[in-house]
Amino acid sequence: MIIAANLKTNFTRKQTTEYIDELESYISKNNTTQDVLVFPATSSLNPHEGKVIVGAQNAYATNNGAFTGEIGLDHLNEFGIKTILIGHSERRHVLGESQQQLVKKFNFYKELGFKIVYCVGEPLEKREAGKGEMMNYISAQYEGIDTSYENLIIAYEPVWAIGTGLTPTLEDIQTIHTDLKEKSTAPLLYGGSVKVTNAKEVLALNNVDGILVGSAALNAQHFCSMIQFAEDIQ
Ligand code: PGA
Repeated sequence: MIIAANLKTNFTRKQTTEYIDELESYISKNNTTQDVLVFPATSSLNPHEGKVIVGAQNAYATNNGAFTGEIGLDHLNEFGIKTILIGHSERRHVLGESQQQLVKKFNFYKELGFKIVYCVGEPLEKREAGKGEMMNYISAQYEGIDTSYENLIIAYEPVWAIGTGLTPTLEDIQTIHTDLKEKSTAPLLYGGSVKVTNAKEVLALNNVDGILVGSAALNAQHFCSMIQFAEDIQ
């Protein structure tokens, strides 16, 4: 399974190094075989060798150039980064990235063979508008995306569940994941208020191939427990 930590705007470079070291030591001590991904803040990226795959939370669709505040491929290459998160709800809804911009980014990093964790998910009003409207909204987030890309991982993250402590019911997660698997057979992660207290049940669901964890992943011990749950289930 894939157990991913989105560190967002947390942890300095030093803290990130300590965090990743702690995960590495857990993984080697316990011989866990799960795919562990960590997405640090951009300024906390570092070259890394080990079992943990370090990815970028964001980068612009360029090698370099005049894009103030952005980083490009050259900057990722410096750290050997080959994995990127695209379409996270905070990028879509807080930073205002459009589907068109995301598609451009997706295609750029796909051409380079990056592992792409592509996020989809509905805001509360779409969920409350009924299943049809909700699925239409999510379907629009698949537009322009090569769903058969071999290095694609999809993360289903309902916007209203991110950082709120709210989650869909387990039954809802399983139903939506089953529907989304018809759009793409890529590994499908669930994200949105996954904690050490609910991760085991989420990971045990059909069509859930892993989890993308935000706030609860900041606790390295909790995150290691989630890696262990996946190991035990497999
Ligand atoms: P959360 O964030 O676990 O804090 O809800 C998940 C995410 O944004 O990927």
